[in-house]
Amino acid sequence: MAKLSISTCLTVLSYMIFHLKMLHAVSSYSFSFGSFDKDPNFESSIALYGDAKVVGNSSSLQLTRPVSLSAGRVMYKQPIKLVEGNPGNLVSFSTYFSFLMSPDNGDGLAFVVVPSGFNASVFGNSPFGLYLGSEKSSPKFVAVEFDTMRDAKFGDLNDNHVGIDVGGFVSVKVRNVSSNNMVLNSGKRLHSWIDYEAGSKRLEVRLSHSGDIKPIDPLLSHPIDLSKMWNGEKVLIGLTSSNGNSSQTCFLHSWNFTLRRVPLWMHSQPLDPQDFAKHEKPVVVQKKSNCILKMLTAMIFGTACGALGAFMVLYLWTIFGNRRPVMPEECSVPPVDFEYKKVKVIVDKAIEDGKH
Ligand SMILES: *[C@@H]1O[C@H](CO)[C@@H](O)[C@H](O)[C@H]1NC(C)=O
Ligand SMILES: *[C@@H]1O[C@H](CO)[C@@H](O)[C@H](O)[C@H]1NC(C)=O
Ligand SMILES: *[C@@H]1O[C@H](CO)[C@@H](O)[C@H](O)[C@H]1NC(C)=O
Ligand SMILES: *[C@@H]1O[C@H](CO)[C@@H](O)[C@H](O)[C@H]1NC(C)=O
Ligand SMILES: *[C@@H]1O[C@H](CO)[C@@H](O)[C@H](O)[C@H]1NC(C)=O
Repeated sequence: MAKLSISTCLTVLSYMIFHLKMLHAVSSYSFSFGSFDKDPNFESSIALYGDAKVVGNSSSLQLTRPVSLSAGRVMYKQPIKLVEGNPGNLVSFSTYFSFLMSPDNGDGLAFVVVPSGFNASVFGNSPFGLYLGSEKSSPKFVAVEFDTMRDAKFGDLNDNHVGIDVGGFVSVKVRNVSSNNMVLNSGKRLHSWIDYEAGSKRLEVRLSHSGDIKPIDPLLSHPIDLSKMWNGEKVLIGLTSSNGNSSQTCFLHSWNFTLRRVPLWMHSQPLDPQDFAKHEKPVVVQKKSNCILKMLTAMIFGTACGALGAFMVLYLWTIFGNRRPVMPEECSVPPVDFEYKKVKVIVDKAIEDGKH
């Protein structure tokens, strides 16, 4: 009887320790640039292309010059993986940047995720100066565009919108920023946060005026599984801008980026968008409570199993216990052992279920 309870307890305990260890294993990787080339890691970690250059006493990065057909970009040099191992840990990321665009109608600015083979030094005619090659060999990319030109070719809403682009410039999600009382190219600083949650497979974009805190409600939210997008291939991230035939200038004032590895057991199904919109809870909070809920369930289940097992052993003991003197010693053990195994199998199965 004591053996059973202790074994159950140990199983539940090791289950909890395992999960705590996994929580700890959510490692991170990040960079942060506030004042650009003063950062000791700047040269080694960031690459500038086209017209991009450090200006304003190192406080900013200028991506486009005030002449037409100017284009520039900044890429983080180190390729990253959005899925690791097989079956692997998925990877979530968060990035933040503050930018300023002059009041002209250039293409605007885009945050891009491109395959690591992408040649960032090549500029093309596509929006934001991206060179996408021929239709067939076009790289799979994901972009968040801060678009200040209405381009009918891509079905643009107006000349003041934010969109999520997947493999093309016709946005899969778009928002008229004017309806949020914001102007992308007002010549004033804006802040943007882009978060990809691998657990809920969701990309979220937030935008605010300078000095405002990170908004709770995303401007855009799109369900997408980035782990499938590049077949485990490494990707590069960057910010790119081009001004077309305008003389728009685009500046970056700060940029940070964090990668978080999400262990397999934390993966959940995509949330129902309507449900998500109703609650607007940060995904991280939901995951934590999900984990605590799992632990609590395991604990309650473990306790119940222990109690049930103890009860069954007691019950069997009362039935067989009386006959023990007339039965051979070996016969009295198996039934108890059998029940013990059954309980253990149930507990193990519950743990398996808990993991999925
Ligand atoms: C540049 O910044 C440094 C320190 O922030 C300051 O001491 C220096 O005067 C600045 N130079 C100019 C030209 O603004
Ligand atoms: C990228 O393109 C430039 C210009 O065409 C070329 O000089 C360079 O070798 C290319 N880099 C790679 C890695 O292909
Ligand atoms: C965008 O929002 C503004 C302000 O609410 C509105 O005047 C304008 O018509 C909207 N544009 C589109 C294309 O919906
Ligand atoms: C830029 O080109 C667009 C169409 O291609 C045109 O409508 C616009 O007037 C041009 N702007 C300038 C400043 O030349
Ligand atoms: C980046 O900096 C902004 C503003 O200081 C902050 O709100 C955000 O949490 C930071 N994000 C990351 C990923 O470091």
